[in-house]
Amino acid sequence: MTLSIKKKLSDNLDLQPLRMAIEEETGLILSHKKDREILSRIGTDIEKYESLSSFIETFLRNKKIAEKTIDKLTIGESYFFRNHPHFSALREFIIPSLIKKNKESKHLKIWSAGCSSGEEPYSLAIMIDNYFPQLKDWKIEIHATDINTAFLKKARKGQYTSWSFRGVENSIIEKYFTRIHNNLFELNSDIKKVVTFSTINLSKLPLLPVNEHKDSDLILCRNVLIYFAIPMATQICQSFSEHLNDDSFLILGHSESFPKINNMKTVYSHATYYYQKTVEKQQPNFETSRISLVPGIGQNASVSSLTPNILKNFSSKKADEKKNKISQIINKATDPEVKESDKDTVYNEVYNLTIDGHFETAMNMIDDMKKQSVHPDYRLFFLSALIFDQKNNIEETLKNLKQSIFINKNFIIGHYYQAVVYERRDEKILAQRELKNSSKLLNDLPGTTILPWGGGITAARLLEIVTERQKELEFVNNG
Ligand SMILES: C[S@@+](CC[C@H](N)C(=O)[O-])C[C@H]1O[C@@H](n2cnc3c(N)ncnc32)[C@H](O)[C@@H]1O
Repeated sequence: MTLSIKKKLSDNLDLQPLRMAIEEETGLILSHKKDREILSRIGTDIEKYESLSSFIETFLRNKKIAEKTIDKLTIGESYFFRNHPHFSALREFIIPSLIKKNKESKHLKIWSAGCSSGEEPYSLAIMIDNYFPQLKDWKIEIHATDINTAFLKKARKGQYTSWSFRGVENSIIEKYFTRIHNNLFELNSDIKKVVTFSTINLSKLPLLPVNEHKDSDLILCRNVLIYFAIPMATQICQSFSEHLNDDSFLILGHSESFPKINNMKTVYSHATYYYQKTVEKQQPNFETSRISLVPGIGQNASVSSLTPNILKNFSSKKADEKKNKISQIINKATDPEVKESDKDTVYNEVYNLTIDGHFETAMNMIDDMKKQSVHPDYRLFFLSALIFDQKNNIEETLKNLKQSIFINKNFIIGHYYQAVVYERRDEKILAQRELKNSSKLLNDLPGTTILPWGGGITAARLLEIVTERQKELEFVNNG
């Protein structure tokens, strides 16, 4: 192959067929904006083939080429004890509950899925060693998996620079690492041997359950599914639930969507959200199972309290009754005489329908309300954004979010949500801008304020999340 393919591609850049093949193979969604970066990472490999399509064909058929390509394209940013609220919840609630649950078997099985170069599973091993001496005679298994074989190789080696220790106490570094030279530290071998590493492609998990991970007590899959399409991410989470024992836990990254997972309830503690597998099949329950559809901010505490009884079972009523209610609702929402609080009730009902997956009905209601409203209402655009996001239409999600913020510049959840969407599209500068806007508005509010459309989240908690996100983005930009 001549030099021309790389040149041709970079002049008239459209790697859509390759991006589709990558999504097929890994679940990772790469946007058009990533084309130049993809080319800079694997352009030289593509050049060895006659055409882009012959490269794609080989990528899809040849395991070695696929592995080499994926190793070059996956992002492995990680560090020890990343996201403190997760580790507080693990130390003070999750691990103690598992100890109680497994006191007879004296066995703990943990899976770190998408472990990158090992910082996450090793943090767990360190935490257990340091804070749970009573587990010395237990069988502790920590299995760590990733799709990227180069990351796994680095993980097995267990050597890290100070970059991986942001915010880690010196006493932990001194106790568990040996300085090899200036800025290189090696993890002590007794901790290394607690963790085993292997390759697992999570996008294949819903089709191919992995027996060795069955009966896990805890699964962490943090900052991985953010790069996946929502339906695939939801299927993977469902599959995680099938790999867990009853009463066991699943932790996702803090800015990831919290899909509804059968047999799993969301738990809020230590200023963070996670899932716990429930023993009996979960019935939809308006009081306890509401979750926020805005990624990363968890359970919805406000919807049920704002929804009047007459509407509570709305989504389970028959279709003709539904139609009737819909027109009542729309009349109510578009009547200029109606109080703001009544409108909120109506919008909350649309939100409930969205949570329950009735996207078409919810969208029809929104469209009718948009047509009939005298003044555009930011909440209608926000609700449209949520539905488009659930349907994985990121362009329309963003368009509607922008519109909702245009109408209401002080809509904090809108700004935050926009930052999350920009981050998913890998537009870090725009994400940072929206985080900054959120932070400015949050700083003007008392910390205890419950934010509208934030699923019960307080201003103080969202500020913590925003600040942490800002730090991470700053790091990625500088890194
Ligand atoms: C940003 S890192 C997260 C590391 C760690 N969980 C954390 O939160 O610090 C994302 C990891 O997901 C892995 N990954 C991406 N697609 C994957 C897939 N289809 N199957 C398994 N791992 C995948 C990447 O290789 C990368 O190591």
